[in-house]
Amino acid sequence: MAPRHQLVPSLGLASLLCSTASAAGPFLTQTGTQEWVFGNDLWNVSQGASYATKLYSTILPGEDLVGTAYGHYSDIDGATLVEYTNASIVASGDDWIDIAFESTDVDLHWVIFDDLQGAYHYMVNKATPSLEILRTLWRLNPDLFLNGRTNIKDDILPPFSLYANATEVQDETFELANGTVITKYDWSNFVRYRDYYGVYGPDVVGSWWIHPSTEYFTGSQLSQTLTVHRESSTGDSVQLNVFQDTSHFRVGAYVTPPVGKIWGPWLWYLNNGSKEDVEQRRAQELASWPYSWLNNTAYQTRGAITGTLTLSDGRPAAGASVFLGDTDTSIRPLVQGTNYYYTTQADASGAFSFPDVRTGAYGLYAWSDGGALADVYTNVTLTPVAVTAGETTALGELAWALPAGRTEIFRVGDFDKNASEFANGGLPYKFNVTSLSPANLTFVVGQSDVATDWYYASSALGTWTIQFEIDEAALAGYSANGSTALLSISLAGYSQSQAQNVDVNGVLLGTLDDDVLTSDPGLYRSSRISGEWRFIQYEIDPSDLVAGTNTIGFTITRFTEWRGFMWDSIFLEWQS
Ligand SMILES: *[C@@H]1O[C@H](CO)[C@@H](O)[C@H](O)[C@H]1NC(C)=O
Ligand SMILES: *[C@@H]1O[C@H](CO)[C@@H](O)[C@H](O)[C@H]1NC(C)=O
Ligand SMILES: *[C@@H]1O[C@H](CO)[C@@H](O)[C@H](O)[C@H]1NC(C)=O
Ligand SMILES: *[C@@H]1O[C@H](CO)[C@@H](O)[C@H](O)[C@H]1NC(C)=O
Ligand SMILES: *[C@@H]1O[C@H](CO)[C@@H](O)[C@H](O)[C@H]1NC(C)=O
Ligand SMILES: *[C@@H]1O[C@H](CO)[C@@H](O)[C@H](O)[C@H]1NC(C)=O
Ligand SMILES: *[C@@H]1O[C@H](CO)[C@@H](O)[C@H](O)[C@H]1NC(C)=O
Ligand SMILES: *[C@@H]1O[C@H](CO)[C@@H](O)[C@H](O)[C@H]1NC(C)=O
Ligand SMILES: *[C@@H]1O[C@H](CO)[C@@H](O)[C@H](O)[C@H]1NC(C)=O
Ligand SMILES: *[C@@H]1O[C@H](CO)[C@@H](O)[C@H](O)[C@H]1NC(C)=O
Ligand SMILES: *[C@@H]1O[C@H](CO)[C@@H](O)[C@H](O)[C@H]1NC(C)=O
Repeated sequence: MAPRHQLVPSLGLASLLCSTASAAGPFLTQTGTQEWVFGNDLWNVSQGASYATKLYSTILPGEDLVGTAYGHYSDIDGATLVEYTNASIVASGDDWIDIAFESTDVDLHWVIFDDLQGAYHYMVNKATPSLEILRTLWRLNPDLFLNGRTNIKDDILPPFSLYANATEVQDETFELANGTVITKYDWSNFVRYRDYYGVYGPDVVGSWWIHPSTEYFTGSQLSQTLTVHRESSTGDSVQLNVFQDTSHFRVGAYVTPPVGKIWGPWLWYLNNGSKEDVEQRRAQELASWPYSWLNNTAYQTRGAITGTLTLSDGRPAAGASVFLGDTDTSIRPLVQGTNYYYTTQADASGAFSFPDVRTGAYGLYAWSDGGALADVYTNVTLTPVAVTAGETTALGELAWALPAGRTEIFRVGDFDKNASEFANGGLPYKFNVTSLSPANLTFVVGQSDVATDWYYASSALGTWTIQFEIDEAALAGYSANGSTALLSISLAGYSQSQAQNVDVNGVLLGTLDDDVLTSDPGLYRSSRISGEWRFIQYEIDPSDLVAGTNTIGFTITRFTEWRGFMWDSIFLEWQS
């Protein structure tokens, strides 16, 4: 260890002299019981038992970048603060130190390089309880960090003054006197589609998260969570780093992360507010990941997986979502959260590859992401798949089974667990769009268009009808040989306490409500793409169908504002 990297445990003049003497380079100074100052020549913070405050940087000399805000901290389920009992330099190189802040639950590491504005963080699990959310966050000076930026939203954070006269209409959702609604959920995004995000004052100062890998994020491609926002009770500019989340935008589930699990490293990057500069820094991080400085054998030991997915009708599984997750396939991909997770899409030939995967056993999951597979509602689930150090596990040709003997009658929407293709679906996240869906509508197969005539979500009391034709000879033939029709209903999300009846030509097939579906918050928290995916099938006897015009009806019988059913696809086919 380089001698200048010293932990100085004493107080008073001696420590001031020592910290001055060690000014060239990263440092850690203990200033009291559960009190430390650390940083490098460019920035430093004062760490208390839980909060790091007084963030100073040469970017804005003399300005406290935390100010009256809370600063940096970590908590479990947004409720239990992580409390640090001691800190020490546990590793170092020529130009960096790795400081571990220890707590009973986790150790938070700050890896500080000589010349870097910011630091790498990683967290190591010691004994977390069963949890849904584990995060770190910066709550920064609202007078300096005026804007927020994610891969899909770049805007001013709502000024704190707006909240004073606003009415809270639901959790963290405020209606202003003029009817405009502001909510932190409008800043959410899909965690696997991020580039970088943070809070900034244009041309002044920016504080950013760069995650060159998402292997320590929970869930699949469909995982969404919060990013940045204005704290409604204090006005702090908040930069969340929710890396463990089996709660937001899904049916929540508690998981127990294994001892030794590492979240990170990610980079907390401080700059003058230039987004071009963060983009360059991100490119640099992508090129240097996995980081050679992390002295952890499991982190450094990696292999790869390749394979090609082909549907049983011969089609390549073009564009399919492929997920490397838990070996226990009884856990839904969206709430898998103990191990490490990798996501990709198959190419046009159905080929996929996962480079730089931590060694171990995984489950492989593939499902349609629309496009050429828009009619595919089956999936591939393969377990276990082994990743071996320094090797590529070539899975070769993987068969994707489609049900035999099926003939499509109609399909409304694409199977992709995503409501984007419907009217009002897709980005941006926006509160209360559900209320713009009509109460009643009729969709005529062959004439209507999903983009304008079927809405992303049903909510109001009324009936949505799909009208379709059945050929007389076909009906006679299928009836004669004992075939049935199969109605597949794929939902991108469901929020209680809505209920709807499903019928064919007025004959009730079933009721979808909170007795059969567990609520997810996707719809009332501004998502117009998805909450948690559901799949329901009803078999229809040919005697309930007629030659000529038929209908499938969806009748909402119970209404709760901003709640309802988010659609993915509705598919009717013959099965013989
Ligand atoms: C922290 O940074 C500020 C601003 O750069 C500087 O004035 C101060 O001396 C630093 N404190 C320590 C302990 O390095
Ligand atoms: C930190 O404190 C804990 C609890 O007091 C103790 O067990 C541990 O050894 C300490 N670690 C160091 C590096 O001093
Ligand atoms: C809040 O309401 C009060 C009283 O109506 C008004 O004086 C004040 O200007 C309002 N503040 C804002 C930020 O709209
Ligand atoms: C309502 O007030 C907010 C805050 O001043 C403003 O941003 C928004 O444009 C206003 N909306 C309308 C419809 O006037
Ligand atoms: C911000 O920093 C970048 C990178 O150092 C630099 O290119 C840019 O000119 C700076 N912008 C301002 C407004 O200082
Ligand atoms: C890496 O960690 C091991 C085990 O903790 C230790 O023995 C070794 O000296 C470390 N290597 C470096 C380069 O720090
Ligand atoms: C795969 O299909 C089965 C059967 O419908 C379903 O239970 C499972 O949730 C699906 N998995 C994925 C990842 O779509
Ligand atoms: C949802 O579907 C749209 C349209 O196909 C696509 O652009 C988008 O990437 C999808 N989003 C997710 C999270 O899958
Ligand atoms: C939601 O939208 C409906 C109609 O589009 C409107 O009547 C209602 O006031 C809105 N609610 C809020 C809280 O904005
Ligand atoms: C929807 O249709 C039902 C049945 O025809 C009708 O009673 C209801 O008024 C309609 N709702 C709206 C908003 O038009
Ligand atoms: C049943 O009849 C339909 C319509 O004539 C035909 O397309 C289908 O192949 C038949 N299925 C079987 C199993 O014979």
